[in-house]
Parts: sequence; C-alpha cells; structure tokens
Amino acid sequence: MNLNVVASEIYREPHFHGYGSKTVLRAGDQARPAAFPDAAVDVAELLKRSTAPSAVRLMGHHVFLENYQLVRLKNGTSSIRSLAEEETFHPVVGPVAEAEALYVKQLRLRQRLQSHMGEFVVWDVGLGAAANAMAVLRAASDLPCSLRIISFDRTLEPLAFALRHAAELGYFSGYEKAARQLLETGRALGGRWELRLGDFPWWLRHHQPPAPAPHAILFDAFSPAKNPGMWTASLFTDLHRCLDPKRPCAMPTYSRSTMLRVTLLLAGFFVGAGRATGEKEETTIAANTPELLDEPLSRDWLERARRSRSAEPLREPVYRQAHLSRESWEKLLRHPQFQ
Ligand SMILES: C[S@@+](CC[C@H](N)C(=O)[O-])C[C@H]1O[C@@H](n2cnc3c(N)ncnc32)[C@H](O)[C@@H]1O
Repeated sequence: MNLNVVASEIYREPHFHGYGSKTVLRAGDQARPAAFPDAAVDVAELLKRSTAPSAVRLMGHHVFLENYQLVRLKNGTSSIRSLAEEETFHPVVGPVAEAEALYVKQLRLRQRLQSHMGEFVVWDVGLGAAANAMAVLRAASDLPCSLRIISFDRTLEPLAFALRHAAELGYFSGYEKAARQLLETGRALGGRWELRLGDFPWWLRHHQPPAPAPHAILFDAFSPAKNPGMWTASLFTDLHRCLDPKRPCAMPTYSRSTMLRVTLLLAGFFVGAGRATGEKEETTIAANTPELLDEPLSRDWLERARRSRSAEPLREPVYRQAHLSRESWEKLLRHPQFQ
C-alpha cells in the first residue's frame, strides 16, 4: 500500500482509551500487512472513500477513521485541523495565544475572578480540543476563586485526538488528567469542570437553561459558512434568554462580521468591537450590560450595517448573505444601545 499525501496511524488495542501499540505510516511508506493478521482491511481504499481522514485506526476488529489532523503553524506552534469542516482551530497565532488574547485578556478574567464573590461560571461553547478551557483554568490557577466551567460540544473526538497529541500541542500542562477525566466521565476537577455533550442549539432549546447562568461565555464554533447552525438568530435569542439579568455576562468571539453583530443585537445583547488577537485585527464582544464593553458599536457602524450586503441574521441553519430587512433595521433603531 502506498500513501501519497497522508500519514496513517494504525493502533491495535482492544479498548478505546489505550493506544499502547502503534504503527505510524508516513507518505511513501510501505505497510506490512503481516504485522496485522487479524485486520483484513484495505487501508488505502478506506482513505480514498472516506471524507479524507488523516488516519485509520484499527483496534481489534474495529476501524476508526480519524477526522482531525495536527498542523504546524507558521509561528512554529501546533494546532488541530478538522478535515470534515476543512478548518483549523486557532489557525494563525495558535491555540494558546489566541485563547489568551480573545478570551482571558478581553474578558479581564483575572480581575473579574479576583473581585468576584461566590461561584464564577464560564460556558465554553465548542470545547473542541480544550485550548480555550485550558487558558481559563491556567488563568485562574493561582487565584483564590471558585471557578466552574461548563463545556459544550457535539463530539469528543477533537479532545480525544488532542490528548493523544498533548506533547506536540503543549497546552495541557498539568491538566491532562482532568481533560482525560472529562472525556471519560463528563466531569472533572471535583465537578468544577463539566460537559454537556450534544447539539448546542438543542441544549438551549430544550433545557432552559442547560447550566447555571454564566458570567462569561467563550463562543468558538466553526465559521458561519461551515457551521451555520451555530450562528442563527434563534440560537442567540435562546442563549440570551439563559442569562441572568442580575449577573453581568460577556461573550467574546473571533468574528467581526456585520451579520453576527446584527444577530447579537437583535437577540438582545449589547455589542462592541473586540480587541485584536494577532489572528484578526478586530473581533466582537457581546454582553448583557453595556458596562462590560470598552467600545460599543456606534451609530456610524449602524449606518454601515444598513448598506452591507451581508447583514441579515440567518433564520435557518443554512448559510446565505442578504441585506438587512426593513423589520430588522427598525428593530435595530429601537435597540437601547443606540438611544
Ligand atoms: C473551532 S472548534 C473549537 C475549538 C476549541 N474551542 C478549542 O479551544 O480547541 C469548534 C467546535 O464547535 C463544535 N460544534 C460545532 N457545531 C456544534 C453544535 N451544533 N453543537 C455543539 N458543538 C458544536 C465542534 O464540534 C468543534 O469542536
């Protein structure tokens, strides 16, 4: 078998979490099928037929296709790429730098934790490979605070993949055990880190609220074009409904698109320009109170949104671009942020 463009990792373990015996086949290597007498699988055929997995894992008689790949970024750090979405997590500055700039610093997390009485709840939407959750845990590690993280994702595959590549990714330092425990049981750190596995819009729709109201939300889905179900008007309306008006909450996210900002405003959030991350020169931060925003969007921004060709929120989980409707425009004009 010749593998031209991908590396294939073949594991022979009868259970899911152990990867003791491993063979890695790189581009151009020849596989020796005799080494795997019980695995009568044509790996090259599998690679051709599936949606481009980076690897095929053979465990006992089970075959697993890997949908993630480790990528080396220009600055020398490593990140993870989803082959199904064809998107890299934290693609420019890498997982640690992006999580710190976009979430930890922008949320002024350490200051908020230090002056906070009682439990401080963070919703980590799009747990993925847990880089954002790790940044929050690290930021709080030396503070005498009570932090609780609720992570949401529809799959644990990227976390399992990241744990298998923890050394290359380099951000689990000290929390590998906790991450493994979350993966296996849905709870870690004595219940201070919990998982909600499943479709996030579904959680919001059917469990109001799916977890204690948050003080901060890390919103990190794939892009609207690839993952439209995570950017709809109804999702953000349901999310806003989960907030406690007496509990100030801020939510940064990497996109600065007009469509996202309009969607957040119409869902009831106050919205501001977010800080640069090295990845993007501007991001977005939403909050349930204007006090948490340094740079609230202005009337000038509103005028630009009116002219934008991509401003109308997604009503369905299908990506498209459209001018603002008259109804949305009139609702925006009545938003307290612009009074
Ligand atoms: C860009 S990755 C997140 C990276 C992650 N925050 C990290 O630090 O590694 C986006 C994540 O959103 C998750 N996701 C996408 N659609 C979802 C949905 N409908 N419900 C729950 N999670 C979803 C994906 O499975 C993926 O893990």
